[in-house]
Parts: sequence; C-alpha cells; structure tokens
Amino acid sequence: MKNRLVCLCNLVDEKEIVSFLERGAKSTSDIQRLTRAGTSCGRCLPEIDEIVASHQTKKPKDQQQKLDFGL
Ligand code: FES
Repeated sequence: MKNRLVCLCNLVDEKEIVSFLERGAKSTSDIQRLTRAGTSCGRCLPEIDEIVASHQTKKPKDQQQKLDFGL
C-alpha cells in the first residue's frame, strides 16, 4: 500500500489509520480518539471517513466478528 499523509495538523498517515482499523477501530470517531487525526481543523475528516468505509467493505465477515470480540 502506498502511504500518504492524511491529517496534516496531527501528522497522521494512512498506514497508521489502517493499522488501528485492523486492530478493531470501527469508526471515524475511534480513529480521532486513537490518533487525534481530524481533531484540529477537521479538513481531513471526509478522507478519514473514506478510509474507514473502504476498510469496512474490504474486511471479510468472519474477520469482522473476530475483531468485534477483540475489543
Ligand atoms: S488536517 Fe486533520 S485536523 Fe486538520
């Protein structure tokens, strides 16, 4: 995966966001709480929403259930 800086205010890149999604984060607010991305000017929020949505559609259903128990 090509990495890119998503949140310029808090220097959070896509790999960091995906890493939290793979470990059980489920929403943009989870990503905000865990990384502080999107908590300053908010300009990156639509991009974070897209990454979260894209991750949710890619994840196989059995992996979703496994992660749900892991939180
Ligand atoms: S660019 Fe992410 S909060 Fe400003």
